[in-house]
Amino acid sequence: MKLLACTWALWVLAFCSVQATKDICNAKPKDLPLEPMCIYRNTYPELQPTKEPEKIPAGTNPRVWELSKANSHFALSLFKQLAEGKSSDENIFLSPISISTAFAMTKLGACNSTLEQLMKVFHFDSIKEKTSDQVHYFFAKLNCRLYRKKHETTELISANRLFGDKSTLFNESFQHISEMVYGAKLMPLDFKEKPEVSRMAINEWIANKTENRIKDTLPEGSIDTNTILVLVNAIYFKGQWRHKFDKQNVLKSDFHVSETHKCPVPMMYQEKKFQYAKITDDKVKILELPYSGGDITMVLILPFDGTDLSEVVANMNLKKLVGWLHAMKETSVSVQVPRFRVEDSFSLKEQLTKMGLEDLFSPVNASLPGMVAGDGPNLYISDAYHKAFLEVNEEGSEAAAATAVVATGRSLNIYRDYFIADRPFLLLIREASINALIFTGRVANPCESS
Ligand SMILES: *[C@@H]1O[C@H](CO)[C@@H](O)[C@H](O)[C@H]1NC(C)=O
Ligand SMILES: *[C@@H]1O[C@H](CO)[C@@H](O)[C@H](O)[C@H]1NC(C)=O
Ligand SMILES: *[C@@H]1O[C@H](CO)[C@@H](O)[C@H](O)[C@H]1NC(C)=O
Ligand SMILES: *[C@@H]1O[C@H](CO)[C@@H](O)[C@H](O)[C@H]1NC(C)=O
Repeated sequence: MKLLACTWALWVLAFCSVQATKDICNAKPKDLPLEPMCIYRNTYPELQPTKEPEKIPAGTNPRVWELSKANSHFALSLFKQLAEGKSSDENIFLSPISISTAFAMTKLGACNSTLEQLMKVFHFDSIKEKTSDQVHYFFAKLNCRLYRKKHETTELISANRLFGDKSTLFNESFQHISEMVYGAKLMPLDFKEKPEVSRMAINEWIANKTENRIKDTLPEGSIDTNTILVLVNAIYFKGQWRHKFDKQNVLKSDFHVSETHKCPVPMMYQEKKFQYAKITDDKVKILELPYSGGDITMVLILPFDGTDLSEVVANMNLKKLVGWLHAMKETSVSVQVPRFRVEDSFSLKEQLTKMGLEDLFSPVNASLPGMVAGDGPNLYISDAYHKAFLEVNEEGSEAAAATAVVATGRSLNIYRDYFIADRPFLLLIREASINALIFTGRVANPCESS
């Protein structure tokens, strides 16, 4: 049997997103007729039923809601694993939803244990059968919801594309669905004769889709003459705060990376009513900064002074996180957040394999019969990359109106709640109405970037 490679690329960029064909956003399931090549059924009759009855947000398809929850489970598992693998003074930043979206595409063509592992690692086995069989359809609906909210000041753009070797015949219906659902029209490249040229073409496409924020995603040597398929998923977000920070209120202040390491950062300041909670049991403060337009917000989670962020992360699960989010109430808060920039990249192959997604990356065990036509080559994913970037400043992008605001003093009013992010904290960029986690991160060391 001839074994051939399939490469996978993913990257992300922070600050903005979207796009989906209008037809898809209005489509009914029957308009997207695709029986998955293979079906996996959870052998456990029911996963633990949730204690409290679920409150699904108004205007939300219950299946989209289920899928979004599965994505959040995956997001937290991956985040925790990354946090454990990195030293506590390193930043982390990624877009879990773009990873789930990209891998959901492989589910379309996967069988046997390859399929089973995909279902488990991405928590697609926690959703109802009908949702799972049509997961591509509900991903499309979720994407419509995220990306359709267009606003002059907020941009969320995602772009997907398959690059296939020009000599390989791919399954027509796989290509068709990919294009319809993910906007990923397959582009033929000459991997066999010109792997390096092909690699640069893909990196250029990514750079172009992310306003040149994400470059060189595929490292040298990642494409070789055995490559058959590269899947790329990019996400770009750019948002302006609903309540901007005043440039005049930015002062140098110490950020405590650890007990023994601190550095000066430009600390932004404002005092306003925000969604906020102080969770004494878990020793965290949680604050939500909304972007203008739509429901996209940045949530900051800061451990109490003297509590280690790693301890908070180790004890965190989705139920806890949702509890914290629900505990937030409109509160007058004095906020200090550093201006910073984080960039992160990692091998998804390494991380996902650790989580149990082994067969997809195995030349021997991978089963992806739905991707190639007929008795095409045996595919496996030879590698997968993720790259992400986030920049946070006073406005998020250029601010035309230089409002004259009188600088407020910084002495802390002891009767007021305050949120001073001068030590490592977590951040989430989410769609608040369905709690879709678009980006997750840990800002542990903003020192070199601000
Ligand atoms: C994988 O699935 C195919 C088609 O569904 C089946 O014919 C084959 O026997 C399975 N292989 C293994 C190793 O289970
Ligand atoms: C991306 O490509 C298009 C068309 O080739 C070009 O017009 C555009 O300027 C490029 N954008 C960037 C950011 O390079
Ligand atoms: C393929 O699967 C078998 C059985 O699960 C396992 O022992 C073997 O290590 C796998 N091979 C690779 C290359 O992953
Ligand atoms: C392509 O995939 C579909 C569904 O997964 C399958 O029914 C069809 O037979 C495949 N076509 C070829 C040429 O393999």
